[in-house]
Amino acid sequence: MRVQVAIIGAGPAGLLLGQLLYRAGIDSIILERRSGEYVLGRIRAGVLEQAAVDLLDEGGVGKRLHEEGLVHGGIELCFDGVRHRIALADLTGGKHVTVYGQTEVTRDLMDARAAEGGRTIYEAEDVSIHDFDSDRPKVRYRRNGTVHEIDCDFIAGCDGFHGVCRETIPRSAVKEYERVFPFGWLGILADVPPVSDELIYVNHPRGFALCSMRSRTRSRYYLQVPLEEKVESWSDERFWVELKRRVDAEAARTVITGPSIEKSIAPLRSFVAEPMRFGRLLLAGDAAHIVPPTGAKGLNLAASDVRYLSRALIDHYRSGSMKEIDAYSGKCLRRVWKAVRFSWWMTSLMHRFPDTGDFGQKIQETELYYLTGSTAASTSLAENYVGLPFED
Ligand code: APR
Ligand code: PHB
Repeated sequence: MRVQVAIIGAGPAGLLLGQLLYRAGIDSIILERRSGEYVLGRIRAGVLEQAAVDLLDEGGVGKRLHEEGLVHGGIELCFDGVRHRIALADLTGGKHVTVYGQTEVTRDLMDARAAEGGRTIYEAEDVSIHDFDSDRPKVRYRRNGTVHEIDCDFIAGCDGFHGVCRETIPRSAVKEYERVFPFGWLGILADVPPVSDELIYVNHPRGFALCSMRSRTRSRYYLQVPLEEKVESWSDERFWVELKRRVDAEAARTVITGPSIEKSIAPLRSFVAEPMRFGRLLLAGDAAHIVPPTGAKGLNLAASDVRYLSRALIDHYRSGSMKEIDAYSGKCLRRVWKAVRFSWWMTSLMHRFPDTGDFGQKIQETELYYLTGSTAASTSLAENYVGLPFED
């Protein structure tokens, strides 16, 4: 079999790339190790920058997002027991974020691909990539005991942090940068109305908390927990009691609790692999970089890479030139590093660190008072949160 672009991974990055290429008349196949149901079962973040919304519109998959997504013009920072609003829209000339779960983005993309007859091979086993340092890359996979080979012009490595693509690049050709944070996030999803209309990021001596949502009837809450914590030791009751201890008095009084429908612990990591291109292999999304979830940048960065990659591939098939492909890694990484810096900064500002003690807490609170009291500092937070500009 032959295709123009072989995409490895059917997460948001791979599916969105496939969608944008399809709309430009570029032929692709997506190979995914898991089943479609498994991919949809993963609960991830849910805040979209305007640029990600625009890209989903460009792919023709924005309808439900506009009907059901919640448009937010601010976030709240809670510290020293009091909430302070950061007026994102007022500070950025009217930019908003949209709260719409990654699961729903993935579902919309999957449905569109199925309706358009795009090829996605789920449960593709032992995917391997070959000859991407030549003009004739190949991809192999096994399904139901039969090995298949695909010839292509380009391989898009959209296979997440644990994927095969980045791992196949020769070690000497990649530089990796990493910071693992000494705590995790315990998250629960519950069918209860959110405590506030906007997200609340909480700095508390007992640890960070986040009050988020998926809709007006479904809430997502997180607590900072030690890395070694086991999800089994957190009953719903224990979770709600701890959340109420960390949020402000009004939120503690008004939060509506209920049974969790999902509960999990995720580690926090910053990671970047450079460059994002090796010959005809182009990495996008979590395959190339990970951010801690504090700034809600993971999905947005995946969309940002796909924006650059789809444009580069479309330009190549229209003009025959490799200019935009050559520019891909540099353009992506300049924006990636800004989001990595912002996510690291917001994580450092909001969490308890085991080694910084009361002094660290005071410094954080002082920075938070400065941030919420200074228009210049609030604007810096706001413009990063809603998403920094693109190069083209
Ligand atoms: N072969 C085929 N598919 C693979 C392989 C493999 N060897 N390894 C991984 N995959 C698949 C995974 O099963 C997954 O469905 O690649 C997909 C990668 O998807 P994501 O991990 O969701 O990554 P990405 O599409 O880059 O999306 C980034 O997801 O992790 C969040 O916070 C992150 O929101 C961000 C977004
Ligand atoms: C979420 O709703 O899951 C969420 C929201 C904002 C974040 C991280 C996660 O910064």
